[in-house]
Amino acid sequence: MNSPQYRQRAIQLREELSDEYFILWIWDEALGAAGKPGQFYEIRALSSLANLQTFHAIPKLFKPISIYDNQGGRIGFMIKKVGTGTNALSRLRAGDTLELIGPCGTGFPVFRGRRILLISGGIGYPPLWYLQKELINHNQIYWMHGGGGQADVFPCDEIWTEDGSIGRKGRVCDNLEETITKHEVDTVYSCGPQGLLRTVCEITNKLDIEHYCSLEAYMACGIGVCHGCAVPIGHPEDWTFKRVCKEGPVFNAKEIRWELF
Ligand SMILES: Cc1cc2nc3c(=O)[nH]c(=O)nc-3n(C[C@H](O)[C@H](O)[C@H](O)COP(=O)(O)OP(=O)(O)OC[C@H]3O[C@@H](n4cnc5c(N)ncnc54)[C@H](O)[C@@H]3O)c2cc1C
Ligand code: FES
Repeated sequence: MNSPQYRQRAIQLREELSDEYFILWIWDEALGAAGKPGQFYEIRALSSLANLQTFHAIPKLFKPISIYDNQGGRIGFMIKKVGTGTNALSRLRAGDTLELIGPCGTGFPVFRGRRILLISGGIGYPPLWYLQKELINHNQIYWMHGGGGQADVFPCDEIWTEDGSIGRKGRVCDNLEETITKHEVDTVYSCGPQGLLRTVCEITNKLDIEHYCSLEAYMACGIGVCHGCAVPIGHPEDWTFKRVCKEGPVFNAKEIRWELF
């Protein structure tokens, strides 16, 4: 399965994590076999003309959501309610139908024998959960995750919150250089808000460490057609625009031209 597929799938299970976060599980062996860590699906609640009462309340745009878990055809999406689309998804229950396009994008490279640092912020957590499952048997991994407060943090090795309600107080990248040195890290994977990723890239570029960074972008089509998600990628003297939804969302940190964003 090379190009993203359109599917309608029943939600098998809905897990409530908190007031803001929930997980939707679907079942599809073929999609499961095709998906890789770092890839995402464009998803939305199925709108039905037969259900005129809710039709106008269902947003038309699909929303990009990472693969959070993927095992034997059981695919999970961990979602934070932030606006119209994710709130519409939050109203879905087991048995309701999800429309999906995917798997989209390129995903993270998976290595063996590395000393790896995973660093995530907020809703950057889900793709790294799936990634660490693929890496864990063949690498040493240390995972740091940060969020605004207690509701935004999930299991990992080191937790940071901006309000200090749990874990260390501050931003997850505050101590990054020391952590990289202490754990003799040779490979970094990151996902989260742009400000965090930019700082992580500056540090790994300075230390000359391999770093794969999953970028967030506003997406309209999500399948490479509108070019609305294009970002400047390449060497300083030889860069071009690449689509986060098609050539990304994962890019080599050395090639992200932050100075042109
Ligand atoms: C490749 C990729 C993977 C993603 N994976 C996940 C995931 O696994 N789980 C998850 O919960 N979310 C994920 N997101 C983010 C998710 O797509 C957005 O939160 C969602 O599209 C917001 O839609 P909405 O209609 O609910 O909110 P909107 O009404 O569109 O926006 C609500 C608020 O969120 C802000 N916002 C919306 N989209 C983004 C964005 N892409 N970057 C920064 N700010 C934004 C808006 O400025 C606004 O303030 C991912 C995004 C990308 C690009
Ligand atoms: S969102 Fe349309 S090309 Fe990426």
